[in-house]
Amino acid sequence: MFSRIVRPTAGLARCLSTSSRDAAKVAVLGAAGGIGQPLSLLLKNSPLVSHLSLYDIAHTPGVAADLSHIETRAKVTGHLGPEQLAAALKGCDVVVIPAGVPRKPGMTRDDLFNTNATIVATLADGCARHCPGATICVIANPVNSTIPIAAEVMKKHGVYNPGKVFGVTTLDIVRANTFVAELKGLDPARVSVPVVGGHAGKTIVPLISQCAPKVAFPDDQLSALTGRIQEAGTEVVKAKAGAGSATLSMAYAGARFTFSVLDAMNGKEGVVECAFVRSEETGCKYFSTPLLLGRNGIEKNLGLGKLSAFEEKLVADAMDELNASIKKGEDFVASMK
Ligand code: 2OP
Repeated sequence: MFSRIVRPTAGLARCLSTSSRDAAKVAVLGAAGGIGQPLSLLLKNSPLVSHLSLYDIAHTPGVAADLSHIETRAKVTGHLGPEQLAAALKGCDVVVIPAGVPRKPGMTRDDLFNTNATIVATLADGCARHCPGATICVIANPVNSTIPIAAEVMKKHGVYNPGKVFGVTTLDIVRANTFVAELKGLDPARVSVPVVGGHAGKTIVPLISQCAPKVAFPDDQLSALTGRIQEAGTEVVKAKAGAGSATLSMAYAGARFTFSVLDAMNGKEGVVECAFVRSEETGCKYFSTPLLLGRNGIEKNLGLGKLSAFEEKLVADAMDELNASIKKGEDFVASMK
């Protein structure tokens, strides 16, 4: 299924060579942070963006001034603090949300819930008020809960569009492509592994059986590879030894996803990305599967496709944790005043 669909052009190079297309205002909420800064740089580098709106609670004037000197078309504006959130969001086509605190060694993504849930709820509320039609791409963890949070907040305002609210899981796909390529001696830009489920530990389910090109591993290697993809975020957290989690690879992944959304918005056909969205594909209300993107968000959910017995078990093993994380997000919004 997935392998027959052309993967969005690998890498970010295409965005540097593409000629200018339709204008798009893109906001980064959390633009001065560890992910936000490199993500903003990548977005500023793209002709797909005509206005880059940077919002954070500190340092955005400096980040905006710095980026604004780069000789690309995007106009850059900086917005500081809650009173400037409306201006940051007004007229936005796409909003990317990397805001929030990162993990420290020993923490799970769920340990970030108490801090990041409120941040995402507040920012989703801003989107509902000031750019209700925008496509929203949430990077802030725990994604398995922050997407239900964003959805419930949008619902409260009567503006929830399930086809336009995405949990960015692209880094899991990027990692899977890289690790498979390393093991098989392939060019990672030509490897495409769909990764389904959610974005935390065992809820991350790489579908190696659907990799393009076709690859095969002995059982023990497949199991180790799957485990490495599931724990790759923790690998970075450990290596950073207290200085946070993945920022540069996450910025790359966030930019790749945003460019796919913009490409599809501009009418490009066959744009497919996996993302954590409202879904009817499994027993979980939200689930990541490959999605065909169009001018107005999700055009078609391409579903799980054919799974191996190993992958069926991985999906089954992910359900309880995913459902609990989704409920936690929904309960949080229900308890908000
Ligand atoms: C990761 O997977 C930060 O959740 C992010 O590294």
